[in-house]
Amino acid sequence: MSGYEQTYNAWQTDPETFWSKAAEDIDWFSPAPRAFTADSGAYGRWFEGATCNTCYNCLDRHIEAGHGDRLAVIFDSPVTDTVERYTYAQVLEQVGGLAAVLRDLGVSKGDRVVLYMPMVPQAIFAMLACARLGAVHSVVFGGFAPQELATRIDDAAPKAIISASCGIEPGRVIAYKPLLDEAITLATQKPDHCVILQRDTLRCDLTPKRDVDYAEAVGAAMAEGRTTECVAVEATDPLYILYTSGTTGQPKGVVRDTGGHMVALKWTMENHYGVKPGEVFWAASDVGWVVGHSYICYGPLLHGATTLVYEGKPIGTPDAGAFWRVIQDHKVASLFTAPTAFRAIKKEDPKGALIGDYDLSHFRTLFLAGERSDPATIEWAQAKLGCPVIDHWWQTETGWAISGNPVGIGGFPVRLGSPGKPMPGYDIRVLDDGGIEVAPGTLGNIVCKLPLPPGSFPTLWQAPERFLSSYLAEYPGYYATSDAGIIDEDGYVFIMSRTDDIINVAGHRLSTGAMEEVIASHPDIAECAVVGKADPLKGQMPLGLFVTNDGAARDQQELEGELVQLVRGKIGAVAAFKTALEIKRLPKTRSGKVLRGTIQKIADAQDFKMPAAIDDPAILDEISAALAARKLIG
Ligand code: COA
Ligand code: AMP
Repeated sequence: MSGYEQTYNAWQTDPETFWSKAAEDIDWFSPAPRAFTADSGAYGRWFEGATCNTCYNCLDRHIEAGHGDRLAVIFDSPVTDTVERYTYAQVLEQVGGLAAVLRDLGVSKGDRVVLYMPMVPQAIFAMLACARLGAVHSVVFGGFAPQELATRIDDAAPKAIISASCGIEPGRVIAYKPLLDEAITLATQKPDHCVILQRDTLRCDLTPKRDVDYAEAVGAAMAEGRTTECVAVEATDPLYILYTSGTTGQPKGVVRDTGGHMVALKWTMENHYGVKPGEVFWAASDVGWVVGHSYICYGPLLHGATTLVYEGKPIGTPDAGAFWRVIQDHKVASLFTAPTAFRAIKKEDPKGALIGDYDLSHFRTLFLAGERSDPATIEWAQAKLGCPVIDHWWQTETGWAISGNPVGIGGFPVRLGSPGKPMPGYDIRVLDDGGIEVAPGTLGNIVCKLPLPPGSFPTLWQAPERFLSSYLAEYPGYYATSDAGIIDEDGYVFIMSRTDDIINVAGHRLSTGAMEEVIASHPDIAECAVVGKADPLKGQMPLGLFVTNDGAARDQQELEGELVQLVRGKIGAVAAFKTALEIKRLPKTRSGKVLRGTIQKIADAQDFKMPAAIDDPAILDEISAALAARKLIG
């Protein structure tokens, strides 16, 4: 039996013993009487009754064990030409200082703190400072517009917000402060205070009485040697809320609990990623996404490894050799990114010529996730890097990989197009629409048998009913992943598509429903549909089709431009909404349901079956013609 099979079997035979053993790698203030309490929460709770603190496990305990001088955080920012290195002791000083400042501002256990930050080390310090106080952070990705930030502020009702004067995209400085101010104006839940990191690239004015200068306040606290103790929280208390796209404009507040999250992430560092304490682990994502939470911030630090905060892109900062330069300069052992980053590099440097300019001798493994890894990209990476390329599948909801290939315990041969096999903790099944398990190799709805493992979400923030209806109601006894796919005869999982209206653009999860809501708010629009059109670089790109109100005599190009700007303004640049196309009519069923799936197939020039219930098949030809006229299909 392989190491993987032994481990998976050990979990399946006795999940409680498996996770109790994993929990020995975490320092608890008081341990849980048992690993799992079945009659608690929506599907049971992990480590109920234990008390602990995530910041203690990420920082203090490594320092107490004599590793204070070990590098904890490396900041590499090609957009500001900066490299900074922080040891565990230095990170604790920063985090303790910020925690003291937050406590002075009235933040205490259970309070929410929203973070709207660029990729700077202070984003990590802020997450850890919240964890230290037992406060619940909610990081909002910097590419979201004020309206999206306001929605999250209203849902989380934060006591404080931590932000920065600006973010830096290649060739463009984004003034964060006006976006933050606008969001606070739009929100009904006003924070008491904002702590603002002034960046030299673009400083901002602070709002009197409300705003605090991050560097001044934390600097003063550190100069006085101030810190705070690690507040003991229940293992089942929330560590953070991370909003993710749902099928409507109202995002879902995924709750991460404290104890199970530590146990699961710590386990993955050694076993899945095969990384040792002291090695450098680089997740080239953003703190605004779940990958950033789990593997820029918490996973590596829980493990005593070194994490890398990279403020740059795979290309353009300055070229397609950026990743290789970072791997060389910081002796990165493992890189984790989205396939889209590799497609971008491959497009600019198809021969991988720049790789030869750098010393990658410390580099062992490339991990990909966030979207389907196309075989061509995996093969290119395998050939050019000469190392294992591991695809693994996960979701914001789960916080860590549902399926993967655990190289730390030996792994197994890679099968192209498959993100591996189920991880311990996940009993993955494929069901038909009636909830009956299908035969191996048959496409169906991918579900996970309950209970979900430690680290997976126990509920949605202040929306337990939505949690049940969105995830547990459809297939009783199972968590519905909203992904469709296959498990083959050998147990390899294949993720083919979403079963809902979520699209995946450059590894970013976006709701077409949210974009439709914005487009429909335009006074000249009667109705619209947004679908994900296949894109060779970003995986998918949103495509908006719209019908104008009768009598709205508008210049077509001008109106399309307005809609593109509207989505960018309301949702943000991250939506990458660049194409809106006027059509005469939308294809619908006789009962009035828009046939988005069929539109998507036409846009992707794929074969499709004429929907039996279509109202008027001629509309499909109209759409093909409109797309062809704009050269959106060949
Ligand atoms: N703040 C403000 N704006 C942001 C932003 C941020 N933090 N992040 C992205 N944006 C903007 C970009 O500048 C871009 O704006 P534009 O339309 O004016 O060009 C827009 O949002 C779309 O961004 P993105 O989809 O990332 O496209 P890109 O062309 O800038 O970069 C890639 C494409 C492939 C290089 C980039 O997406 C990438 O590196 N992805 C891989 C890593 C990753 O992000 N993974 C996610 C989860 S694992
Ligand atoms: P997010 O919650 O942003 O991490 O997005 C989760 C969704 O991204 C999943 O439901 C999948 O649709 C998709 N996804 C993530 N990782 C993979 C992968 N390795 N292969 C295929 N799809 C993936």
